[in-house]
Order: sequence, then C-alpha cells, then structure tokens
Amino acid sequence: MSDDRRPLKILLVTGKGGVGKTTVSAATAVAAADGGAKTLVMSTDPAHSLEDAFEVDIGAQPTEIQPGLFAQQIDTQLQLKTFWSDIHDQLMAVFDWGGVGGIEAEEFLIFPGMDELFSLLEVKEQANSGRFDVIVVDCAPTAETLRLLSLPEVLSWYFERVLPTERRIMKAARPILQRVSKLPVPGDNVFAAAETVFAGVEEVKALLADPSITTARLVVNPEKMVVAEARRTYTYLGFFGYAVDAVVVNRLLPDEVTDPYFDRWRELQRDHMATITESFEDVDVISLRLFDEEMVGVDKLRTLGAELYGDRNPVSGFTGAVPFSITEAGGEILMSLAVPFATKDELDVTRRGSELLITVGQYRRSFVLPDSLQRRQIAGAKLEDGTLRITFVDAEDE
Ligand SMILES: Nc1ncnc2c1ncn2[C@@H]1O[C@H](COP(=O)(O)OP(=O)(O)OP(=O)(O)O)[C@@H](O)[C@H]1O
Ligand SMILES: [Mg+2]
Repeated sequence: MSDDRRPLKILLVTGKGGVGKTTVSAATAVAAADGGAKTLVMSTDPAHSLEDAFEVDIGAQPTEIQPGLFAQQIDTQLQLKTFWSDIHDQLMAVFDWGGVGGIEAEEFLIFPGMDELFSLLEVKEQANSGRFDVIVVDCAPTAETLRLLSLPEVLSWYFERVLPTERRIMKAARPILQRVSKLPVPGDNVFAAAETVFAGVEEVKALLADPSITTARLVVNPEKMVVAEARRTYTYLGFFGYAVDAVVVNRLLPDEVTDPYFDRWRELQRDHMATITESFEDVDVISLRLFDEEMVGVDKLRTLGAELYGDRNPVSGFTGAVPFSITEAGGEILMSLAVPFATKDELDVTRRGSELLITVGQYRRSFVLPDSLQRRQIAGAKLEDGTLRITFVDAEDE
C-alpha cells in the first residue's frame, strides 16, 4: 500500500435474517462510491444475494458495477482449493485408505466455521490489496456472523496451544505409525498449510478488532424478536472487541400510510423504536422507511442510501464506542470491556496463570495478559453500565 492512500475502512453489516442487510450493504456501498471512495461490497452469503440487489452478474473476484464501485461474492469452495490443497490431499489419502472412496473430500472439509474462515481470509486479502478505500461486508445472519467474528479468537487459541504440540508428537510418531499401519500420517506440509492459515487469521483479527479500521452496523426491524436479538448481538460484538457505530432501523411505516389497517402496526413500531433508542443510547440510530416497492438495482439503492444517510458521510459519519481498553490511574491498572446488556449471572471472570478467561453467556474469550499485568493481582471485577471493569493492583498492595 502506498503512503498517500486514505486509511482503509471496513464496515460489517449484520442483523437477523431478512431484516435488510444485503440492501443496506449495497446502498451503503453505492453511497460511499458516489462520495468518491473506491468501494468494494462483498457478501459472505452463498445465496448470491448481492446479484439480486444490484441486478447484475457478480463473480468470485471484485466485479465492477460502476466506476469506483465493485462487488464480490466469496466462493468458499474455490478458496478451499487454493488455501488448503495440502490438507485436502492428505484427507483424500486417508479416505482412500479407509475405503471411503467416492466421497468427495470437499464434503468433509466444509465443517462448521470453515466457510466463515475463508470469507474472513478473503476480506483480509482484499483489504491488503490496496485497491479499495472502503470494504462493506454483507454478513450472514447474526448467529453465523457471531461465529465468524469469534473465530479468530478461537482459532488463535487452538493454533497457539494445540498445533505445536501435535506437530511435535507427529514428528516422533510418524516413523512408527508408518511401520505398523498404512494409515497416512499428516506430513509437515499439512502443518505448514495450517500455519499459513493461522498467520492469516492473526491478520484478520488485527484488522477487525481495530475500531479505527473496522466498525459494525446492526440492521434491525422495529419488531420484538429482532430487537431482542440485536441487543444480544451488541453484547457479543463488544465482547469480541468489535465496535458498533450505528443501528439501522429498517422498514418503518412512513407517515403517508394512513390506512387504519396499519394503525396497530404503527403503534407497535413506535414502542419498539423507543426501546431501540433507549437500548442503543451510545450508538447512532438511523432509520429507513418501508418503500412502496422492492429496492433493487443501482438507481433505487442510490435513492435508499440517500434517504438513509442524508447529509452524513456514509462511511465515517458515525462513531462507535471503544469496546476494550487498558488504562492506568494511581498505581492501579483498569481493564474495561464493553459487554452491553450482559447480566452478572451470565458473566464469569477466571484467571489461569498468564491468561484471563472471560465468559459471557455461551461465548468465551481468553486474554493473554501483558507482562505488566501478569505480575499483578486482580483486586476486583465490576459490571457497571454495560462495561466490565477489572482492576489489577501490585501484589504487595493486596
Ligand atoms: N426499506 C425497504 N423497503 C422496501 N423493501 C425493502 C426494504 N429493505 C429491504 N427490502 C427488500 O426486502 C427483501 C429482503 O432484504 P435483504 O435481502 O436486504 O435482507 P437480508 O437481511 O439481506 O436477508 P438475508 O438474511 O436473507 O440475507 C429484499 O427484496 C429487499 O429489496
Ligand atoms: Mg442478505
């Protein structure tokens, strides 16, 4: 990347199924490109929904929609073949040996989380290509996105602790195993491939957990279940270190709809809107009406984007709360982590040697403590206003 480039921005667009993620992603990309930013919108969804939104064919590589606006539908099968060909060959050999011929190795390799992993690696590739100022990622519905976003964390844990040991054991055991059975044993090439992927995952983590580069936008509809899920998502996003910079409330009934049939709907929407503004107090909430038709094609997406963002810069016009920080005051070190809406009983903080394990609901994150904190003791952990505050003091002070 050359030095005169504007800093890269990555916008992750997520929310419950069907709320309008793809539409908002595409409209945001059109607005960003119209504003002069070289923009790429990529979809991690195998349903190829960006094609439907733009009404043009979109390839597995960035496809130009108009000058400065590109779209890409990530093909995880293709990625799989390029990234993990060594592992692929290894598995094929194992399947042949085990007599499971005729089963495609690909079917085995798409284990849960794999396609998300390859999507993330592709986001990183495009970010590093230096071709774009803005990358909008149209994420899969919330549950998968959370898995996607927690993946770097989980994988680094695995790669740092498990892989080196396994590799050592394999090195010692390979000659013996090969003597007693014909079972193919993972060779060094497999571990090398895994390590390449790991290095990529580390880079992804660095990109996504940097709030000056990456922010997430939560799309919701003014409906009970959708809002409830958005609040949970907000918690987990903060927990994994992702800053949310805006909540987009989509499909609000416009004022010109006066048919009494919709009166009750309007009332409900007003109530949910109140919950949303209250719940996401420290995040910008913007809204979008329910249009009188499907908003597909560049022109309609442009109209939609203009209504959504108005005078605001669609990329940098929003600021998110910083989800994680370490500060020092009066000899104490304070670690703050945003866990909005989390309750005491779903939170757990455990220290294990140089690691701090924090659990929120079903998700767990492990922090390797910096040297300066390892020598210290935890004096307390407090949950206040959606922030977990852990205080570290010098051991003598205890
Ligand atoms: N404000 C709106 N007014 C009118 N139509 C809309 C609006 N927002 C979205 N739509 C339409 O609703 C449909 C679903 O939207 P979209 O595909 O963006 O949702 P999604 O959240 O990406 O869905 P999925 O979870 O399946 O990926 C599309 O046909 C889209 O054109
Ligand atoms: Mg979609």
